Amino acid sequence: MATLHLPLAPLLLLILTAAAFLSTEIAAQPAAPAPGPARPINITAILEKGGQFVTFIRLLNTTQIGSQINIQINSSSEGMTVLAPTDNAFQNLKPGTLNKLSPDDQVKLILYHVSPKYYTLEDLLSVSNPVRTQASGRDVGGVYGLNFTGQGNQVNVSTGIVETRLSTSLRQQRPLAVYVVDMVLLPEEMFGERKISPVAPPPKKSKSPDVSDDLDTNSTKKAAPPTEKSGSCEMKSGLGFGLGLVVLTLKFLF
Ligand SMILES: *[C@@H]1O[C@H](CO)[C@@H](O)[C@H](O)[C@H]1NC(C)=O
Ligand SMILES: *[C@@H]1O[C@H](CO)[C@@H](O)[C@H](O)[C@H]1NC(C)=O
Ligand SMILES: *[C@@H]1O[C@H](CO)[C@@H](O)[C@H](O)[C@H]1NC(C)=O
Ligand SMILES: *[C@@H]1O[C@H](CO)[C@@H](O)[C@H](O)[C@H]1NC(C)=O
Ligand SMILES: *[C@@H]1O[C@H](CO)[C@@H](O)[C@H](O)[C@H]1NC(C)=O
Ligand SMILES: *[C@@H]1O[C@H](CO)[C@@H](O)[C@H](O)[C@H]1NC(C)=O
Repeated sequence: MATLHLPLAPLLLLILTAAAFLSTEIAAQPAAPAPGPARPINITAILEKGGQFVTFIRLLNTTQIGSQINIQINSSSEGMTVLAPTDNAFQNLKPGTLNKLSPDDQVKLILYHVSPKYYTLEDLLSVSNPVRTQASGRDVGGVYGLNFTGQGNQVNVSTGIVETRLSTSLRQQRPLAVYVVDMVLLPEEMFGERKISPVAPPPKKSKSPDVSDDLDTNSTKKAAPPTEKSGSCEMKSGLGFGLGLVVLTLKFLF
């Protein structure tokens, strides 16, 4: 261990001084022009202009997903895509469909209509399926995914239970795309034969889906390798991070 400590100490010192230097440097520059649009995007206002989304707006409001979308759009570089079902779409559901869902599943149903990435219609014509939604959480196995298929200029979205067209776009401009759908997108996981039990949480320790999950600025803790990894692995990745920082700061210095 002593052999490791010796070269690490000056390295650490360099990192710390460089970091301090960097932070004062940043603080010394007043009012750097902030990139991106100044006025915040408001999903509710966009839907209100559409005029036929009273139910969807109400659900976005009661689940607070609407405000989470507004916040996430503001701070994510990926943007977002929202598939907005019309009031007609909700009326065409079998009576009681929404009320039969637990509050958790109602939230999931709405999250299923939101993808954490900005897609133009053109993107969707050739996107690789299934596309993650906010209901997918961090699972990569295609849970709560949507399939998009295109023909000509027409894009269809399929859940495995329902398939419908993306009829018009209320907005198609980075960072937010909003497309109108004439059916509520019912996830197979909730309404299909092989539906996932709504009570049993997934065996993995994946967190429940949370739109604001990616917004945490203290990401270094979360990015740390899982605990089951061996100590030497942690040491290596820790060193990698430190060295990367040094390279970065050296670029600043010279
Ligand atoms: C978004 O728009 C709705 C309707 O126009 C309004 O009630 C709400 O206060 C707005 N939210 C924000 C954060 O501006
Ligand atoms: C949204 O919910 C709040 C209470 O949480 C309520 O006061 C407000 O009227 C709701 N807005 C809409 C558009 O439903
Ligand atoms: C969006 O971000 C800007 C700057 O980061 C902040 O001032 C503003 O309050 C944010 N707006 C919302 C709706 O979060
Ligand atoms: C989506 O497409 C993939 C492969 O393209 C397929 O395996 C999957 O069953 C489809 N899922 C739905 C919900 O249509
Ligand atoms: C798209 O979905 C509609 C049903 O809403 C169906 O009639 C049409 O054939 C589908 N188009 C494609 C290309 O699958
Ligand atoms: C997050 O970072 C801030 C400083 O940037 C610190 O004050 C705060 O305690 C941190 N929170 C957590 C949960 O680590």
